[in-house]
Amino acid sequence: MTKPALLLPPSQKPDLIGGHFRSFRKDPTGFLTRQAALGDVGYFRLGPQPGYSIFHPDLIRDILTVNAQKFIKGRALQRAKVLLGEGLLTCEGAFHLRQRRMIQPAFHRNRIAEYSRSMVEHAVRTADSWADGDVRDIDKEMMHLTLRIVGQTLFSADVEDEADEVGQAMTTVTELFNFLLLPFSEWLQRIPIPPTRRFNRARDTFNSIIFGMIDERRRSGEDKGDLLSMLLLAQDEDDASVMTDEQVRDEVLTLFLAGHETTANAMVWTWYLLSQNAEKEAHLHAELEQVLCGRSPTIDDIPQLKYTEAVFAESMRLFPPAWTVGRLSIEDHEVGEYSVPSGSLLLASQYVLHRDPRFWDQPESFIPERWEMQSVKEAGQKFIYFPFGGGVRRCIGEGFAWTEGILLLATLAQRWKLRIVPDQKVALHPMITLRPKFGMRMVCQKR
Ligand code: HEM
Repeated sequence: MTKPALLLPPSQKPDLIGGHFRSFRKDPTGFLTRQAALGDVGYFRLGPQPGYSIFHPDLIRDILTVNAQKFIKGRALQRAKVLLGEGLLTCEGAFHLRQRRMIQPAFHRNRIAEYSRSMVEHAVRTADSWADGDVRDIDKEMMHLTLRIVGQTLFSADVEDEADEVGQAMTTVTELFNFLLLPFSEWLQRIPIPPTRRFNRARDTFNSIIFGMIDERRRSGEDKGDLLSMLLLAQDEDDASVMTDEQVRDEVLTLFLAGHETTANAMVWTWYLLSQNAEKEAHLHAELEQVLCGRSPTIDDIPQLKYTEAVFAESMRLFPPAWTVGRLSIEDHEVGEYSVPSGSLLLASQYVLHRDPRFWDQPESFIPERWEMQSVKEAGQKFIYFPFGGGVRRCIGEGFAWTEGILLLATLAQRWKLRIVPDQKVALHPMITLRPKFGMRMVCQKR
């Protein structure tokens, strides 16, 4: 029996030109929240690109898991290839599966236990570097901290010396990312206008640092047992091929970028939320005192640090570092009652779903206690909570991130309370990740 013709989903009033491009770009999370009010599936247009917003957990599960083969990454990640090449985040198909197989062992539980020592060590150094009454931009502090951790744990590299240079290049790249998403940016990128030149300079910085690391390791022939050695030595099971320097560079840069900015963001918003919710903060402190009795945490403490974990989970509910997942359809597909043609952009927003009153009580409030009623795993299975995505493209660093988030929070909150400076404006800046638009200057108060 043939189905009745399916209509276009509801849509917001378009801008005068470019469909909804300007409205989306001006305030992406606001735009998506308004789309959600239209229904589980909404239509929009970004310039010539037709798009569908998806706001039902079952439909999101379908796209990310059951029918994942009908989709590739959305335009943002396609464009990120100018920086990340064919790294794990941006590559597709059989090549993605091969790379994922080769990289997966670096994220095994035993490896994360090893990494956890560096996580605490670096957090202790950060805690030692603060003085009572210091005003610090916690956005920058957390970026430095997580960058040093990913550098040391995955590449045995002390990126301390280069941390500023790399951090600056990361900031430049993420800021210019909006430029890369402009219509015609493929063309604009070929002319030496200032944003292109800044982008290229930042890319050269990464290349020189990373190719330097690869070169040094190849020359010494040393197997340090870290991710870099694994990438250089790994052979494909099928044809025994190894990765070229370019492929190793792409993976290293991908893991540097994906592995520090997201966790740093989660940490910044956690500090912000704690500063606004003194009672929850006191509960966290009480747990840390009871479980740790003043010593530094280890990975073995994590099962006891239930409230600390709930604080981190709740922070990623309200401020998911990856605020939306995008896909481009490569086949026609039915989404709910609508027919979505091949070549469409589909957006599923964690930011919106995580605040949907159909699935969450008091969705706008910071209530870590809600995770006593429902586990992260249960909420994930229902796809009402998916900070790490889902299906074959689910975050490879999820275990790393939970361990890191809990250990950093436990180490730092044991010794420090952070309070926002009075003139600090707080607003969202949804780029690749959900950053605070004006940084996050906070006063350090010794506990
Ligand atoms: C709170 C921290 C983190 C969050 C919220 C997060 C979120 C995500 C999400 C949502 C995806 C899927 C993107 C998509 O489907 O389009 C993803 C993929 C990925 N993440 Fe994470 N991530 C975090 C930490 C990390 C860490 C610590 C690493 C590495 C050390 C990492 C490495 C990656 C990589 C390589 C991918 C691509 C996986 C693939 O396609 O096979 N992430 N992440």
